[in-house]
Amino acid sequence: MPERVHLIAAARPNFMKVAPLYHALAASDDFVPVLIHTGQHYDANMSDDIFADLDLPAPDHHLGVGSGSHAEQTGGVMIAYEKIALADRPDWLVVVGDVNSTAACSMVGAKLGIRTVHLEAGLRSRDRAMPEEINRLVTDVLADVLWTPSPDADENLAAEGIPASRITRVGNIMLDSYEMIRPKIEAEEIHAQLGLSPRGYGVVTLHRPSNVDDFAQLARIVEALCQVAQGLPLVFPVHPRTKQRLARYNLGIKLEEAGIRLIEPLSYRPFMSLVSSAGAIITDSGGLQEETTYLGIPCLTLRENTERPITVTEGTNRLVRAETLIEEVNAAMASTSRARRPDRWDGRTAERCIADLRARRDA
Ligand code: UD1
Repeated sequence: MPERVHLIAAARPNFMKVAPLYHALAASDDFVPVLIHTGQHYDANMSDDIFADLDLPAPDHHLGVGSGSHAEQTGGVMIAYEKIALADRPDWLVVVGDVNSTAACSMVGAKLGIRTVHLEAGLRSRDRAMPEEINRLVTDVLADVLWTPSPDADENLAAEGIPASRITRVGNIMLDSYEMIRPKIEAEEIHAQLGLSPRGYGVVTLHRPSNVDDFAQLARIVEALCQVAQGLPLVFPVHPRTKQRLARYNLGIKLEEAGIRLIEPLSYRPFMSLVSSAGAIITDSGGLQEETTYLGIPCLTLRENTERPITVTEGTNRLVRAETLIEEVNAAMASTSRARRPDRWDGRTAERCIADLRARRDA
């Protein structure tokens, strides 16, 4: 009998981590993937369009949990997922990343005695003001198996007393998604549609509460982006949270006056097309720090810390403050130092995940 694997997909950054594993499990003879969407993200361009871009089918179960406070969202996912887990009794549960649904489902899996795997385990910002850091800590302490992307993640887990037998370094699964559909991404040529030349523009994304919820911080960032835009055309796909804040604080208009192109969030293919031809990325995303390292594109991360330090030590990432953004953008674009792709960031992580499931099943 093939073993049944529940895969939890919840929010935009999860889908590119789930898709390669879903396809690899579906192609195997000995595992059957069951795709569960918690509904944490629900807008078409935050969810369904990305599923389509990654050739994912409609989920087997949709929990429809939606937005809410952290407790509402986490509790809602636990209540809804527990029913499915009880009825379906999977052999494995795989949770990915660090969103509220990740922690919620790992708590359900642990209490029901379902073998639970965390894909993208071991990342630590050491900043507990970040909701994602709480989710990472909870998930890693509960999961039976920890699939890590990099050696720093292995070291973090070891320092927390997690035995090496629970940890397998599989690499960075998101890059499997990129390689899986690279020709389709390259065919998009979004920059040409926007009238921009390759490497002649920057892309901005922002959504962290620490950057967008506080008026003073958001105003500083807007000011810095307006300065950068004087020398480098900027395209800014605006996350729903950020759109609300820019409107509330009357700051969106400043960006428009500076010529910054505010557009709706893009789905995966057009977004990666836009990123892969850009000259620089200005962001507070986690995933983009990794994708830019892989693609060798300068990344300016508007954060005080990162749970992905390897993107700074080996890759193209720099942690920056709004006050010095313009200097940092200029320095990054002028730099000729070449980044290295970290070990096992090679588009073959899903294979290693399946090999690890087999090894643990047969142990
Ligand atoms: C969540 C994740 C974060 C991830 C981010 C990517 C947690 C704690 N946070 O944060 O780790 O990096 O997703 O986007 O799990 N909204 C919509 N449409 C949607 C989804 C959200 O309009 O499809 C609105 C919500 O109503 C809310 C705001 O956007 O007002 C923020 O959404 P929410 O899912 O709460 O958190 P994110 O900031 O997206």
